[in-house]
Amino acid sequence: MNDRRIGPPLDRVDGRAKVLGQATYSAEVPAGSVAYGVIVGATISRGRVTAIDASEANAVPGVLAVLTHENAPRLPGAAEKKENARVVQLLQDASVAYDGQPVALVVADSLEAAQHAAALVRPTFEEEHAESRIEPVAGTAFVPKPSGPRPSSDSHRGDFDRAYEAADVRVAQRYTMPIENHNPMEPHATLAVWQGPDRLALYDATQWVFGVQQRAAQIFGIPPDNVRVVTKFVGGAFGCKGSAWSHVFLAAMGAKVTGRPVKLVLTRQQMFQSVGYRPQLVQEIALGARHDGTLVAVKHDVLSQTSRFDEFMEPAAYATRMLYACDNVRTSHRLVRIDASTPTFMRAPGESSGSYALESAMDELSYALGVDPLALRIKNYAERDLEEDKPYSSKTLRTCYEQGATRFGWTKRKRTPRATREGRMLVGWGMATATYPAHQNPASALARLQPDGTVLVQSGTMDIGTGTYTVMTQLAAEALGLPVERVRFELGDTTQPHAPIEAGSGTVSSVGSAVTTVATKLRDAVRTAASAEPTPDVYTSVARRGPIEVRHDEKEKDDRKRFSCHSFGAQFAEVRVDEDFGTVRVTRVVGAFAAGRILNAKTARSQLLGGMVWGIGMALLENTVRDEHSARVVTKDLADYHVPVHADVPDLEVIMVPDDDPHVNAIGAKGIGEIGLVGMGAAIANAVYHATGKRVRDLPITPEKLL
Ligand code: MOS
Repeated sequence: MNDRRIGPPLDRVDGRAKVLGQATYSAEVPAGSVAYGVIVGATISRGRVTAIDASEANAVPGVLAVLTHENAPRLPGAAEKKENARVVQLLQDASVAYDGQPVALVVADSLEAAQHAAALVRPTFEEEHAESRIEPVAGTAFVPKPSGPRPSSDSHRGDFDRAYEAADVRVAQRYTMPIENHNPMEPHATLAVWQGPDRLALYDATQWVFGVQQRAAQIFGIPPDNVRVVTKFVGGAFGCKGSAWSHVFLAAMGAKVTGRPVKLVLTRQQMFQSVGYRPQLVQEIALGARHDGTLVAVKHDVLSQTSRFDEFMEPAAYATRMLYACDNVRTSHRLVRIDASTPTFMRAPGESSGSYALESAMDELSYALGVDPLALRIKNYAERDLEEDKPYSSKTLRTCYEQGATRFGWTKRKRTPRATREGRMLVGWGMATATYPAHQNPASALARLQPDGTVLVQSGTMDIGTGTYTVMTQLAAEALGLPVERVRFELGDTTQPHAPIEAGSGTVSSVGSAVTTVATKLRDAVRTAASAEPTPDVYTSVARRGPIEVRHDEKEKDDRKRFSCHSFGAQFAEVRVDEDFGTVRVTRVVGAFAAGRILNAKTARSQLLGGMVWGIGMALLENTVRDEHSARVVTKDLADYHVPVHADVPDLEVIMVPDDDPHVNAIGAKGIGEIGLVGMGAAIANAVYHATGKRVRDLPITPEKLL
């Protein structure tokens, strides 16, 4: 492949270590005389601990400590809320604010002893009425702080009310989604090692070693430099490992009290309670259009949930502000407080959920108008970002529509629902637009020419399975003019140059830019040292004279601020619905994406595929159920919480559309971690409508909703 816009499909540089079991995940890091921590969680969703009997637990052989709010060390820093950090519960008082909140920590010589003792800790609770639903408390909704770099959680341009009133055709609908939980294969895990009274090392399953470092320093009242956080491999994350939750600091607390390294791994059940989730959402969309399909009014109101003690907002209406050319657009976000732990970022937080509502409503509008759903999108194609009043840095969405539609065979689509039947199956086709912002944050990197002529590049970023090790190696090798075998990229350690959180599809643009720049600097330094154009041989000869090290701190480029930077895509789905049973099978999917430069065709395809598979889960399967009376989580394992398995996933087709973006950043890459999920929920829901004539506006689309 010579197209610079779609990079070579290099195998993962860490692939061999992974398949040989040599990739050490946080819970596998060896530590001498390690002890094991197990959390005892509350069995109520609201109230307090009135008594806690740890006598039986303490009597279990091998138990080193049973910490409760009665005897846990006081941590004044725990009460402080740091910006972008989560409020944590570290056994500081008797109150209980969510199901599974830690009420005790058992530390023992063996995992078995700790688990056994944890089962013998007997708390008594005073239970108060707990609410787990949004609707009954909708009257208490408040305006949240905006998420990310947006000026406001509400927006308006033009005059929605007047334009909507004057529209020829109107669609107003309400779309609801349940809580969804991240389920990475690797559970959250922390190994905490105190190396003296005020020096802490944490081996933690995280998306951001520097975030954990800052929070741990603040909670334990020690300088950040005294906290080292190391994470070499992460077995999936999707946002839940973006924040440091209570268990990280409980592990460190247990280690401090017992004087032993403490390893703490959450159970799958605990991961449904205490490390964030996608919040439930009630979305109302109103669209007004002229008979010719021109959108004249768009409104998107989002009602969601947060905890009693912290605030998280899923910005589901952000993309609606700019996705289509329309002069009258109003959006709002509101939150209510319910008795649950705090929600958090979950793959394409906002865009995936918001696009389900907006792109379903666009589909409904297409039927109301009697136009093709794809034609309706093209009719309202936004040539510039009308919300920010800026040009796009690049936008190749039209090509995504064209290539996706061609590959899918969209022109053969029958207009009316229920028009295609194969045996007992009703066949339907649906599509949706995808978009995701191209985030970029300042990042740093270093590059060192080693005595053997290889180059070591470091940045304290993460690889959460996305391919960071691989693409950073490729970027550095390209800038240096060396084969990838002569470059080693290291990450995941707070002793390395600072990097931002591995999230928001922003690692390639943020860290990739820093890596490219630092590698270019090293190449320049070698050129100067050799007075010759650097070739692999020149690197070798210069290296013999001694190491050269260069550093780079990447600042955000002012250039990109003049532009609206987003990835775009088009999703097409086919479903087959069994009318007798209401079962839906996704039988064919095509996703076409334009996300700037693609660094590695193989790892990028995997990311996009993963997002599309998640879309099947969002549309048809995923649903965290809370008991309405106790507000406790009912679906706490992968038997009850369904994610797509192999049999649910058809042959998915990914098209990577070449997209030249000269403005977004130095490397022209926008990131592809999340966009694969965006729009897929709607594309499938729209296909279900096309198949059956039944519009389900409540995800997931389970059989009973179609009967
Ligand atoms: Mo992703 S939700 O930005 O970790």
